[in-house]
Amino acid sequence: MDKSQPLSSTAMPDQESGTIARVCGHDFIWTHQHPRIKDVEKMLYTYDELAMEALDRIDAISPPGPKDGRKCPMSQRDLYALLEEHSQSDEVLGKLWNEVNTVPDWVDWEQISRGQRLVYRYHGQMLLGLLFNSLLGGMAAWRVVETLSRTGGFGVQVTRRRLLETSQHFLEVVEDLDSVKPGGKGFVSSVRVRLLHSTVRRRIMELERQKQGYYDTRTWGVPINDLHQVGTIGAYSAALVWMSLPRQGVYLSEEETADYLALWRWVGYIMGTPVDWMATPASAKAMMESVITSEMNPSRNSQVIANNILTAEMGAPPLNAPRPLLAALAYRLNGHEMASALGIDRPNAWYRGRAWVLGLILTFMSSSYPFLPEWWQRSRDRKFIKFGHDMVTNHKMGGLGHSARFEFQYTPALGKTTEMGAFDSAGSWQRAVVATVGIVLGVAVAALVSSLFYPWHEIAVQRMGGMVVPAEQVLGKLF
Ligand code: HEM
Repeated sequence: MDKSQPLSSTAMPDQESGTIARVCGHDFIWTHQHPRIKDVEKMLYTYDELAMEALDRIDAISPPGPKDGRKCPMSQRDLYALLEEHSQSDEVLGKLWNEVNTVPDWVDWEQISRGQRLVYRYHGQMLLGLLFNSLLGGMAAWRVVETLSRTGGFGVQVTRRRLLETSQHFLEVVEDLDSVKPGGKGFVSSVRVRLLHSTVRRRIMELERQKQGYYDTRTWGVPINDLHQVGTIGAYSAALVWMSLPRQGVYLSEEETADYLALWRWVGYIMGTPVDWMATPASAKAMMESVITSEMNPSRNSQVIANNILTAEMGAPPLNAPRPLLAALAYRLNGHEMASALGIDRPNAWYRGRAWVLGLILTFMSSSYPFLPEWWQRSRDRKFIKFGHDMVTNHKMGGLGHSARFEFQYTPALGKTTEMGAFDSAGSWQRAVVATVGIVLGVAVAALVSSLFYPWHEIAVQRMGGMVVPAEQVLGKLF
């Protein structure tokens, strides 16, 4: 069986305006604004040439050591530092340096800051959306997984580390405005990842030259090509806005959507991604829909990586969840059709219920946010960022033990692809009992605390009149 082939065949869609379509559980109508699939597919063969040339120049100036220091992490080259250091003396490096440090006129820092603040308000839903829909669901992109399968970064033993590094990048990008502006942490990490992408692309292309058939560029496109970059930036932004947030009951306004897209348009720009399609919410939505139609169709390798992601997250902080609960979240955020096409084991009603309650708690947290005084909001924002960084860097919390520099660690080699890791999908009854009690208590506490911020009682009285008994009386009768 060819593990790289999509599991179901799909015909080229009829993109005639007015036709209804459903892809990845997302319904939409084709319009004249949607890019044609045949045009979208042309981007499979274009890529970030400037960063590739820059990498060659860095190699000429400061050649990589044997295996580029895989034995001793300290001996890794710092590609960002080399880029900066030689940007004045080397033409190509100067060109890349100037490109990333030249802020385009469409960048509005105020708007980007508003986009970052949306993440603070909806952080729970966004992180779940990114993990279960953008990343895990994104593995349905059958051509993209061929690159990931070859690096081994999603092997079951290393996926957790890979996810933490990706989380670090995300947190740095949303931390504050200075972090994402030129020279800030999120900016530097984005440029580092851009160079890391070029390293991976070059390595895979070299191996294909050594052994024809190792990587089928004609079918899958150049590794980490423009189309897949667009799709990935779309997964961080547009897919969140129109797929995973609504599936969790969060609907951003037109203005909020534009703010959130503005943040990722800038990040995409630094990372060498075509980003003009993100200029308006309408064009971003149309591009997302064309790209998912073109790319999302899981293969056996998609199933391998999607399952490895769940296995790696089993019992790991911050969710500390058993696998069936993770599977239930995957079903909730991707829809039944896509989650089962990804080979995720079907969760029972108990775990679906728990996923639903988790959603309820997050809804309470995000809907109470606007009612909090400014100082409380800021303090909650800081706690979220601190918790996020601790989760990534603190060893005791299951973190890396350090901040990542996004170096080349998962080196593609001939004959190396990612296999599915073993897992035990059973959840014990003891855990189920403890969890039931936890859920009941959680819902009760959420209801009580929420009544401090939200006038549930008044609303109920307005709707149902004298039938409503005040909460104090109910509690008085109970205790
Ligand atoms: C512009 C959108 C993208 C963003 C924001 C992004 C983000 C990241 C981040 C943060 C890392 C570092 C994680 C680590 O070192 O473990 C990374 C590494 C990597 N990315 Fe991307 N990425 C994007 C596009 C892509 C695409 C389209 C591909 C295609 C397959 C890809 C493949 C990889 C690979 C192979 C690595 C190296 C680590 C590994 O082997 O798994 N990325 N990316």
